[in-house]
Amino acid sequence: MNILLLGQGGREHALAYKMQQSPLCTKLFTAPGNAGTAQCSMNIAMESDDFEVIKKFCVKEKIDMVVVGPEDPLVKGIYDFFKNDPALKEIMVIGPSQQGALLEGSKAFAKEFMMKYGIPTAAYREFTSENFTQGVGYIKQHEMPVVLKADGLAAGKGVVICQHPIEAIAEFELMVQQQKFGDASKKVVIEEFLSGIELSVFVLTDGINYVTLPEAKDYKRIGEGDTGLNTGGMGAVSPVPFADEVFMQKVKDKVIIPTIEGIKKENIEYKGFVFIGLIKVEDEPYVIEYNCRMGDPETEVVMPRLKNDLMDLFVKTSQQKLNEVTIETDSRHAVTMMAVSDGYPGSYEKGKPISFPSDISGDTIIFQAGTKQEGNNIVTNGGRVLTVTSYGESITGCVAKSKKVLEQIEYEGIYYRRDIGYEFM
Ligand code: AMP
Ligand code: GLY
Repeated sequence: MNILLLGQGGREHALAYKMQQSPLCTKLFTAPGNAGTAQCSMNIAMESDDFEVIKKFCVKEKIDMVVVGPEDPLVKGIYDFFKNDPALKEIMVIGPSQQGALLEGSKAFAKEFMMKYGIPTAAYREFTSENFTQGVGYIKQHEMPVVLKADGLAAGKGVVICQHPIEAIAEFELMVQQQKFGDASKKVVIEEFLSGIELSVFVLTDGINYVTLPEAKDYKRIGEGDTGLNTGGMGAVSPVPFADEVFMQKVKDKVIIPTIEGIKKENIEYKGFVFIGLIKVEDEPYVIEYNCRMGDPETEVVMPRLKNDLMDLFVKTSQQKLNEVTIETDSRHAVTMMAVSDGYPGSYEKGKPISFPSDISGDTIIFQAGTKQEGNNIVTNGGRVLTVTSYGESITGCVAKSKKVLEQIEYEGIYYRRDIGYEFM
């Protein structure tokens, strides 16, 4: 099969790495890709949300399947664009329809969905400029802390946790009246703060059946000990030690099954990943958010632990035959540690040449994220530059292996957290 993968992060390098291992994969293209995807596929200079350009490419290259990495093209409706075009409608698209992508694209839609299907989540109300005054009243009587969420996509910055009503009202005003996040914050979800430990569960669904992939926990803060600013993710571990059989059974019964049932009952076309961000509060799972794609850097530990042929999973997803699949997981741990540019998640420079170790052990994989080829060099091209995943019998062992490789990688201003998985060591 000829496959086009959309995206350019570490997630896409991990997906490309896994897809090209499949005998079903004839030609793999990544658009726009990075210097890592260039090693296991052919990079194409197209933006992942430029649908007309993507269409021309798919027709010309006789593409059989499009795998969508990031949320943007999904929320913009790439699935529907393909299905409504006679020249494209036979092409398999891995990712939900635009309506399905609302689970990530609209916090209010996701909350309403969870309420309707009895999925445990924080209590909430939604407000716009039309009921702004009620919103202020709601905040005043709300217990602190309180969580404010811009309804739409806000590049991971749309969630603000406020400790005091004055701070919350100011933030609410900025979001709704001053449109701090543009149209994304015209509507705001105000919700109860949940205290617990977070983890992510990944489901691949064909809209009827589903399979559950290995779970993961990511580390969002820039600083060690979970301090400092939020980032896209500084590392991840899989499996998650506290996600034992009893807890995962609750996740299945209370969250996964009702979610898939809800998708079916709403007649949502959904052939792709559902990323469920969970928080464990006194042994009970609550949904913090849905995403309509895989996580980054979670993919960089989930794919290495997945033993199944990913292309086979995608074909079965497309044919609504996921009921025929059993997921097989590598019993080893996997930990990934992200190296970023100096200054990230604030401003940073690009174009720093990267030197890689000439030889690394078979237990370690380097996935590239913000990199590009420039002449003979691979140079930095983003905030999150590359991530090092290692397998091991323990989290401590994985971290030691990834660290050893990171110590041999050089570029100006390299920074990474050395404490990924710290609470499990
Ligand atoms: P989101 O963009 O929805 O993933 O939210 C970003 C982060 O905010 C989450 O990973 C949580 O750490 C935190 N968060 C979101 N909602 C809540 C909540 N209701 N209670 C506590 N923390 C939350
Ligand atoms: N690592 C979190 C995300 O991909 O949204």
